Parts: sequence; C-alpha cells; structure tokens
Amino acid sequence: MKHILVRSTVRALFRSGQNYHRNVHRHGGGAFGSFYWRRMSTLPEKKEDHQSDSDENNNKNSNPVVSSYWGITRPKVHREDGTEWPWNCFMPWESYNSDVSIDVTKHHVPTTFGDKFAFRSVKFLRVLSDLYFKERYGCHAMMLETIAAVPGMVGGMLLHLKSLRKFQHTGGWIKALLEEAENERMHLMTMVELVKPSWHERLLVITAQGVFFNAFFVFYLFSPKIAHRFVGYLEEEAVISYTQHLNAIESGKVENVAAPAIAIDYWRLPKDATLKDVITVIRADEAHHRDVNHFASDIHHQGKELKEAPAPVGYH
Ligand SMILES: [Fe+2]
Ligand SMILES: [Fe+2]
Repeated sequence: MKHILVRSTVRALFRSGQNYHRNVHRHGGGAFGSFYWRRMSTLPEKKEDHQSDSDENNNKNSNPVVSSYWGITRPKVHREDGTEWPWNCFMPWESYNSDVSIDVTKHHVPTTFGDKFAFRSVKFLRVLSDLYFKERYGCHAMMLETIAAVPGMVGGMLLHLKSLRKFQHTGGWIKALLEEAENERMHLMTMVELVKPSWHERLLVITAQGVFFNAFFVFYLFSPKIAHRFVGYLEEEAVISYTQHLNAIESGKVENVAAPAIAIDYWRLPKDATLKDVITVIRADEAHHRDVNHFASDIHHQGKELKEAPAPVGYH
C-alpha cells in the first residue's frame, strides 16, 4: 500500500511539472562529451484562482495524497534525439562514455603486513563466493555488486563526518568516494535487469549487508589505509570476475542478450549494444575503482591525508 502511494505521488508530481517550463540548452564538450539535453523546469506559473481550485479538486479525486503546495516538480529532461529521459535514478549529465582502454591486468603486489592482510582476506572471500556461485556469472556479479557499493558510501560518510568535526575541507574525496558507491549501485541496477534474485539470495544480501557494512565501518575507522587497500583488491577480483564473464559470453556459455535500456543510457552505448558491451564497460569501471582505492591507500602509506592528493572526481 505504501509503495503504491509513493508511486502515485511521484507520477502526479511529474504531471504537475508539465505546466511549468523553462528551457535550458546545453551542448557537448567538457565532462559531457557530445551529449546534450533539453531541460524543462521548474518555475511555477501563477494560475487563476478558479483554475487552481479545479486542478486541486481533480487531483483530490484522482489521487488524494498529492499536493502541489510545495512546488516540487521533476525537471523534464530529454535525450539528444528529443525523446523524454525515462530515468529518475540518474540524469544525462551523470551518464558517460566509459574509458575501456584502462589496463585490466594491473595488480598491486602486497608488501606490508597490512597489504598482505587485505590481499589474503579478499582471496579468502573469493574462495567462499566461488564455492557458492560456481559458474553462475550473472548471479555472482549481482550479489557482489550489493557489497561493492558499500565501501565508497562508508568512506565518503566517514570523511564527511571528519570534515564536520575538524572544520576541514577534504579535497573532493567525499564526492569521489560517493561517486564510486553510486557507480557500483548502477552496476547493480543493471544486473538486476538481467538476473532476478531468488528469495534466499535476497536473504543472503540482507545478512551480508548487515555484517559487511558494520565490519567495514569499524575497519575504516581503525585504518583507512588498509581499508582502501582491501577495496583495491576487491576491485581486482571484480575485474577478474568480469573477465571470466566476458570469456563465457565469447565461448557461448552465456547468451549475449541485448543490453538493458538503463545500461544503454548510463554508459551512452549504441542502441544495439549487447551484454558483452555492458560487461566490458562495467569491468572498466571496476579497474578505475581499483586504481582509486590503491591510490588512496598509497596516500595513507606516505603518511599523508587524502585531501593532500588530487581527488579522482568524475574518474571513470
Ligand atoms: Fe561493480
Ligand atoms: Fe567496483
């Protein structure tokens, strides 16, 4: 019942936005490449009183929980081809062309005790996950993305709190880490289009999240240096997993189905993109996360704070 009300509210908010418009044209270049969009928003127009009443009554009849009192409208956004932007979870300016030229074979050789601890912990978790998922690549990827999206959020949150506590800038690292978490969540939103989790997998996710979030929170408080190294190795394993997934697609073990619509818009893929294209760009993302986290750990290894090094904001 609750989610029906929420959905209805959002739908009605969108409808109310259609009366209010302002055009903003933006063209390519910069972070957005050749992508541009048309945005129509948000300044409310003053209506005649009787019209307002009539609209309000109509709204009451069709959906009693909707109110335009707060003036909240969702901006109307269009794709480059003029079609309406269908997603709420990300906007065109958050989509990007993936840099798939990144080296997917890089590895940080563990040297210190902390590095070795992080590396062996990840390898141990890898053995467990391989035992559980075997060659169910899609399911494996989907479940791991539910974990992969946690560290960036925890790290970003703790840096945020530190910034508040110490009255300090953090050099863009909060944003960089939250971007990583969001990017991982988009991997999950994509995988969910391809694999439907069963009830016991959902239960596993809830349990794993409860354990991993709290464990990583304490881990990051105790040593951000080792925590980032741990994530760097997790990302190395993610690259390996997606390489295996690609090999399975190429050998025909996994069907190379059409790419989900959400993936086409998020990574600006061609309309006829396939699963192979999607896994290729996700693997490139994982390689970027690997580098960001090993870099963050290296900064701590040098006895410095993250804010003293350039934050990889918008690094894909
Ligand atoms: Fe991911
Ligand atoms: Fe990742």
